[in-house]
Amino acid sequence: MRDDAPFTATELDDDALATAYRVPDRDRWTRDFWVRVNFVMSLDGAIVGAEGLSKSLGTDADTRVFRLARRMSDVILVGAGTLRMEDYRPSPRPLAIVTRRLDLDPGLRVFAERGPEHVRPFVMTTSRAMDDAPEWLRDQAELLDCGADDVDLHRALDHLTARGLTHMLCEGGPALLTHLLEAELVDELLLTIVPTLVGSDEHLVRRAGGFSPPVRLQLTQVLEDDGTVLTRYSTRNRMAP
Ligand SMILES: NC(=O)c1ccc[n+]([C@@H]2O[C@H](COP(=O)([O-])OP(=O)(O)OC[C@H]3O[C@@H](n4cnc5c(N)ncnc54)[C@H](OP(=O)(O)O)[C@@H]3O)[C@@H](O)[C@H]2O)c1
Repeated sequence: MRDDAPFTATELDDDALATAYRVPDRDRWTRDFWVRVNFVMSLDGAIVGAEGLSKSLGTDADTRVFRLARRMSDVILVGAGTLRMEDYRPSPRPLAIVTRRLDLDPGLRVFAERGPEHVRPFVMTTSRAMDDAPEWLRDQAELLDCGADDVDLHRALDHLTARGLTHMLCEGGPALLTHLLEAELVDELLLTIVPTLVGSDEHLVRRAGGFSPPVRLQLTQVLEDDGTVLTRYSTRNRMAP
């Protein structure tokens, strides 16, 4: 055990923060893309607040890094559960929604509020679901065939890579993160720990029986802001600090 004072006493301006969260250079990648995952969590490991939403957990520091991570990405991966629950707005960065069932409501803001300035979201689904996709969804989104009956996440990310979208940011939720970990498709985890106790049963990873052996991560960075601890973990020993 070491006391190496991980909390820096230096205030980070926007440029310094961007440097701290810089995606490693491509020569450090083992694939043609980089997958960064960003989550916020309470001290007791809850990933949703009282209303079942993550935004109620957020602090100013979390919001700052959340926005920065978005700006640094080419595409935002999100599970359909999170999209439905958090009712994402259309974003200047393309969204890539992962869904097996393709049960998406046209009233979701990502579709209903999309203007000409917004990029059409990708919907990564199965060929079976695509056969029955409604016309409005074909207009509002680009459907990507990622497997016959199940979404093959490798294939899904290859579709994005082929479009030049190689800096991928996954904003969850737990089901999608679990599947990405199972497929060994996570390069790094940005985990913000906010100083609250929530008492919710929703955790970062949801897997019957757990991971055996556990997924091991390497801490690469710790920042602190008014009690919020912002961590950065690598899933491999190959990331530049
Ligand atoms: N604290 C945080 O930072 C944070 C971040 C994200 C989410 N959340 C919270 O997490 C909760 C949502 O959890 P969740 O586990 O339901 O979220 P999720 O992973 O976003 O959504 C699960 C759904 O996504 C689709 N999906 C995920 N992985 C898939 C795969 N490999 N293949 C095919 N489809 C896949 C399926 O959609 P279909 O059912 O359409 O087939 C599945 O039912 C919300 O309350 C949200 O607020 C918190």
